[in-house]
Amino acid sequence: MSTFPKDFLWGGAVAAHQFEGGWQADGKGVSLADVMTSGDNQTARRITDGVLPGENYPNHEAIDFYHHFKDDVKLFAELGLKAFRTSIAWTRIFPNGDEDEPNEAGLKFYDDLFDELLKYDIEPVITLSHFEMPYHLVTEYGGWRNRKMIDFFTKFAKVVFERYQDKVKYWMTFNEINNQSAMLNDWALFTNSGLVAEPGEDIERSMYQASHYEVVASALAVQIGHAINPNFEIGAMFALGPAYAASPDPRDVMKAQRSMQVNTWYADVQCKGKYPAWLKKYFERKHYDLDITLADEDILKAGTVDYIGFSYYASHVVQAVVTEADDFTTRDEHTEIPNPTLPASDWGWMIDPIGLRYILNWLTERYDLPLFVVENGLGAFDKVEDGQIHDNYRIAYLREHIEQMAKAINIDGVNLMGYTPWGFIDLVSAGTGQMDKRYGMIYVDKNDAGEGTLKRMKKDSFTWFNQVILSNGDNLN
Ligand code: BG6
Repeated sequence: MSTFPKDFLWGGAVAAHQFEGGWQADGKGVSLADVMTSGDNQTARRITDGVLPGENYPNHEAIDFYHHFKDDVKLFAELGLKAFRTSIAWTRIFPNGDEDEPNEAGLKFYDDLFDELLKYDIEPVITLSHFEMPYHLVTEYGGWRNRKMIDFFTKFAKVVFERYQDKVKYWMTFNEINNQSAMLNDWALFTNSGLVAEPGEDIERSMYQASHYEVVASALAVQIGHAINPNFEIGAMFALGPAYAASPDPRDVMKAQRSMQVNTWYADVQCKGKYPAWLKKYFERKHYDLDITLADEDILKAGTVDYIGFSYYASHVVQAVVTEADDFTTRDEHTEIPNPTLPASDWGWMIDPIGLRYILNWLTERYDLPLFVVENGLGAFDKVEDGQIHDNYRIAYLREHIEQMAKAINIDGVNLMGYTPWGFIDLVSAGTGQMDKRYGMIYVDKNDAGEGTLKRMKKDSFTWFNQVILSNGDNLN
């Protein structure tokens, strides 16, 4: 038997651009997700120069929740959800991002959605920016390279905080703000900050400048939100997984520590209100001379978050490839290697439930804030057999992670608010643009080629998760 707090927020998570579709409905503008093509586990998504004819843009229709939301929310209620995490598509509210007035039709859509959720006592948990900023802000302003973005974002935040102040209590500012930090791929720089390297640009410097404007915008949003409704709980959101050292060799251990530092400095800023010492030294050493004002520093101090939301999918193993560990860069020279003690998903993500308990402990020690697992899950190929989907592999994955959360709560004393598994209804993968990389408990009939009826079907994990919620996590069988 596993014990969870009585008001634990059992739920499910999605993001607007990955499931709503309706990319031009009711005045919506073009978002970053609308100019990203489909890929697969071998081929990366491409970012096109605007929306081009003849390209396949999977987010345009996605699973068309926009036109199915009443039936879908009914199904979410049947699943037993107490919380539903989604994002507000910024481009429904400000289609280009720089308008004076918001788009009423976009605001109304979320009013209707939140009313529908509340009708079934499902608590909305809302991310303000989840990889879907207005594309116009990239083409006209250079994305988050530009300080003006702070004003555009905080205006958007204020409009939605005011509008939904009696319907939404739980908010997060930027989804996985830290996944651009390791500079591992262009995709993360684009989706987080609207950055595509220009010829001759020091893109690492731009990433730090953009990130700085984002943490300032986040801190301002926290203050604006609390002024509108002091009962708001406004969190940060990080992609987190432990970096384990490949061996007891201290060089590997040091590399693993540095990898964690690079990945989590955003948490230092958003939770403690200041930059960590190593990063200030790093900026000095690189002569970055970033636009970080004293006023910004005050804003960061005054706008720390109420809780930490995070995604957990996998852990990582880090191996040093340089002989000395005295200096390092963000584009660090280390090798990430597979963990021989763990299985991996079909997309090569290491499956490590204990890593979740580890990271829950790590976060608690470091920040001492309430935690919320707002994404977790297994991306897998599902088979439909006689109208049924027997996804016992997904049930096993989720069960093992829930068991570790129970240990973190009951043995380690971690303050955990809730658990919203990712993509509990099948949706478009952010990383690959695929439909066939499925996380859901609800199957959606659509494949990578975009074919299918969009019909929703319950997988075995649907019934299983329903029992988990009904028993408040006691029945995991
Ligand atoms: C997180 C994102 O990175 O992981 C989601 O917040 C994303 O948007 C999820 O979908 C799973 O990643 P992927 O690439 O399998 O969709």
